[in-house]
Amino acid sequence: MSKINVVYWSMTGNTKAMAEAIADGVKSAGAEVNVCEISAITPDELAANEVFALGCPAMGAENLEEGEVEPFVTELEGKVSGKKIALFGSYGWGDGTWMRDWVDRMTGAGAEVVNGEGTICEEAPDDTTIKELNELGKKLASL
Ligand SMILES: Cc1cc2nc3c(=O)[nH]c(=O)nc-3n(C[C@H](O)[C@H](O)[C@H](O)COP(=O)(O)O)c2cc1C
Repeated sequence: MSKINVVYWSMTGNTKAMAEAIADGVKSAGAEVNVCEISAITPDELAANEVFALGCPAMGAENLEEGEVEPFVTELEGKVSGKKIALFGSYGWGDGTWMRDWVDRMTGAGAEVVNGEGTICEEAPDDTTIKELNELGKKLASL
């Protein structure tokens, strides 16, 4: 199993904390992990992997962050058919619309979203969410 990439964009650290909890789960399963900001990797590099995790909080009005994440995901859409992807992100006041739209985009592009509806949490992840993300990391390591 090659290194699992856990890639994120985060303005105030909540989605970053989620990424780190996934990475802890990957490591606890004995696999190698690369946790990085989205600016540190290209869509081609990410899509070279069969399994990866990608995180972004709700921004704009129930959108992905528009400067970096939206163009990255648009490019990724043409490259993810058959890939197993975990999606995650934090939100503030919405109802998770941004994540539902994102899951639809990735499944529409032929990817399998391995954590169902994506893993979301309001602001900072609490202990329950951290445990859920640890388990998600273990699952990614087993795929
Ligand atoms: C410019 C901006 C736009 C936002 N838009 C939404 C939104 O549409 N829906 C929502 O639920 N939360 C929204 N939020 C709240 C963030 O998603 C929330 O604070 C989240 O925890 C930030 O994650 P981060 O710490 O990883 O940056 C917005 C926050 C900012 C700063």
